[in-house]
Amino acid sequence: MKQPRRYAQIVGWGKYVPADVLTNDALALKVDTSDEWIRTRTGIRERHTASARESSATMAIRAAEQALDVANVDPAKIDMVIVATATPDYLFPATACLVQDALGAHKAGAFDLSAGCSGFVYGLAMAADGIAAGSYDTAMVIGSETLSRIVDWADRSTCVLFGDGAGAVVLAASESPCGVLATVLGADGSGADLLILPNSGFKDPVTPEARSAQMPYIRMNGNEVYRFATRAMGAVAQEALKKAGMGLEQVDLLIPHQANLRIIQSAARHLKLPDEKVFVNLDRYGNTSAASVPIALCEAVETGRLQPGNTVVLAAFGAGLTWGAAVVRWQPLPEEVRRSWWMRLLRWLRLRLAPWSSRVRRVGRHVDTVVGEATGDREQAKSTDRA
Ligand code: ACO
Repeated sequence: MKQPRRYAQIVGWGKYVPADVLTNDALALKVDTSDEWIRTRTGIRERHTASARESSATMAIRAAEQALDVANVDPAKIDMVIVATATPDYLFPATACLVQDALGAHKAGAFDLSAGCSGFVYGLAMAADGIAAGSYDTAMVIGSETLSRIVDWADRSTCVLFGDGAGAVVLAASESPCGVLATVLGADGSGADLLILPNSGFKDPVTPEARSAQMPYIRMNGNEVYRFATRAMGAVAQEALKKAGMGLEQVDLLIPHQANLRIIQSAARHLKLPDEKVFVNLDRYGNTSAASVPIALCEAVETGRLQPGNTVVLAAFGAGLTWGAAVVRWQPLPEEVRRSWWMRLLRWLRLRLAPWSSRVRRVGRHVDTVVGEATGDREQAKSTDRA
């Protein structure tokens, strides 16, 4: 008998942005720029920057907790945690593992995904495909960035563009045709040098000089990235719609990657979408890379721009070069499912107990090691005596 198709429904969403706000005027005191230049060339008015206590992992955890709350899902039900980020807390362990531990998502696999600003759309596609294939039932996809730590605050051509924050969604298997309907992903590594964090990996042997060198900064060929982006975003959105068997007239909202207002307007013109069908919030956040699409998605829901039954297209481009789009039928869970108080209580307990259960596992590992060593020593002593 033919199995019914499984869809990945977006059942939870959440965002977190740091409290510290850096306005264009405040930036103009640090570097040779002006509010007028930044606003007219990019559309950005201000951005949020992480405090010393915040990181991509801490922000991801806050966004994820909110998404779980909206979905009213027990963290122990999550099968996979994907964190899209260009600014992980460490190269390893994956930021996704830190998130998985903090949420008490004991059953989940976890990995980081590197696809620049397209990372969240890539993660959404991976999670949706995994759910459709039956590999997992519930997945968490997060975009989280601390770009303020990798911008050169003396380089006015890049430092005005970026901001920090995180956004998350929970996906759950559904048999009704909603959630992620189609995705398209693409890449062109010949443009790798156009947007790059030089000396950030292990391509070259690590010499003592390299070890003591300064942290790397973003380097970008703005004009080339701009040209690529204006072509890529509209085209990939159209391709994803075609794959979903839908036309532009069926689109209720486009949520594009928030990099530059002029790029967004150019994509909207390409798609012949009026302003009211295009979501823009980069004036308040700047470019938060992999976090930009999920933060915008959350705001679109919070402000009522996205309504049950709507068709929304998420489209992004970024370093790599990469691009991606997803066509989503917005169908949140019914209120009564989301209100179940015992599930709220269970989740509340699970999240509060997560740090303790993490500590218990650490102590358990330590005890295992000590006991293992003691037993090993005794065995060795016995065999020495016998000899
Ligand atoms: N303030 C004042 N003047 C500036 C600033 C600034 N912050 N930055 C550049 N300028 C000057 C330049 O020096 C130049 O001066 P000159 O004519 O005397 O040489 C002039 O402004 C024009 O510079 P351009 O680079 O041509 O400016 P443009 O209008 O192209 O805008 C921008 C630059 C905003 C960077 C644009 O090219 C852009 O948005 N590119 C795409 C960037 C992007 O989307 N990046 C994110 C990719 S996604 C990811 O994966 C992270």
